[in-house]
Amino acid sequence: MAKRILITGHNGYIGSVMAPHLAAAGYDVVGMDTGFFGECSLVPELGLVGTIKKDIRDLNARDLEGFNAVVHLAALSNDPIGNLNDGWTEEINFKATMKLAELAKAAGVDRFLFSSSCIMYGASSTADVTEDSPLDPKTEYARSKVKAEHALVKMADKNFSPIYIRNGTIYGVSPRMRFDTVLNDLVGRAATTGKVTVFSDGKPWRPVMHVQDVARYFQLYLEAPKEKIHNQAFNSGANDLNHQIIELAQIAVATVPGAKLEMQPQPGADQRTYKADFGKFARTFPDFKFKWNVRTGAQELYEAYKKAGITHADFVDKKFTRLKWLHYLLDSGRLDGSLRWKTN
Ligand SMILES: NC(=O)c1ccc[n+]([C@@H]2O[C@H](COP(=O)([O-])OP(=O)(O)OC[C@H]3O[C@@H](n4cnc5c(N)ncnc54)[C@H](O)[C@@H]3O)[C@@H](O)[C@H]2O)c1
Repeated sequence: MAKRILITGHNGYIGSVMAPHLAAAGYDVVGMDTGFFGECSLVPELGLVGTIKKDIRDLNARDLEGFNAVVHLAALSNDPIGNLNDGWTEEINFKATMKLAELAKAAGVDRFLFSSSCIMYGASSTADVTEDSPLDPKTEYARSKVKAEHALVKMADKNFSPIYIRNGTIYGVSPRMRFDTVLNDLVGRAATTGKVTVFSDGKPWRPVMHVQDVARYFQLYLEAPKEKIHNQAFNSGANDLNHQIIELAQIAVATVPGAKLEMQPQPGADQRTYKADFGKFARTFPDFKFKWNVRTGAQELYEAYKKAGITHADFVDKKFTRLKWLHYLLDSGRLDGSLRWKTN
């Protein structure tokens, strides 16, 4: 019988690629999402899975019955959202994660994949960060990931295996597109304005992975023998997928005919830098190959933007920037002050 898995946040940027991927791989997938970004579609759905529309802060024991594994993606998913209201980030990214994990454990779910982030290493070190490097979270978002990991570690036992999947910055086409991650943004600028302006000195590093490769490596963690992954953190990616912003910008302009690169270093520009060491991932999963690189990914993005007819107005519209869209839902009264839907 197919393994039954619950994916929280299956309606988001990563989830709307991962859920159909895992369903196609033979899993019996159920998605749970409150649907903050349900209207923010760029390309058609890749496939539909069973869905529970629910806020993960409102879970009860029955919601977790009958699953073999939980893939936990639902979160307020970046730094600026954390700055909007740190209480929401704490509630959703930390407290609701813990409740979800406790209910999952009580229901006999034996594997819990936590979608974490390399951002927790802080952002100023020039050394490559391994899973053992000190954590230095600088934002509410990063702190929420650290707190959740630390608390999940304590819940691990012989019947419950949490795994901390520390992602880099993810790019690539998804039904629930975001333009607020680095390569999606750079290619979007090049495609809609003919210009990419880099406001830092271009030197900061980012590990960047394609969303389809992310879906594929989450599957690795579902299928790996328990002893390889039990209660462990993994920087998830490959060393040659670390890039400096300047390189990403150069590739974005090279992909879009006629686009130009402009350097305008400014004091106070985003100089966050992190370069991750992916040696542990490579040693644990020696046969896994990343199918995408920045060049092929930038080309895919450009083609998708052209096909969808994205204009500059679409590019800067609220729909594809998580923070702007949440602001809009709040300002238009569709979400209440606790970030829950008012009606439906
Ligand atoms: N995209 C990246 O570059 C990246 C990098 C590192 C880690 N991550 C992590 O991966 C996960 C998914 O990221 P994403 O880019 O798909 O984000 P996203 O914002 O596109 O999707 C998150 C999904 O979670 C849902 N959600 C949020 N709060 C919820 C709640 N209270 N109840 C139910 N559903 C809720 C949203 O409706 C949305 O569909 C997040 O945990 C994020 O922190 C993402």
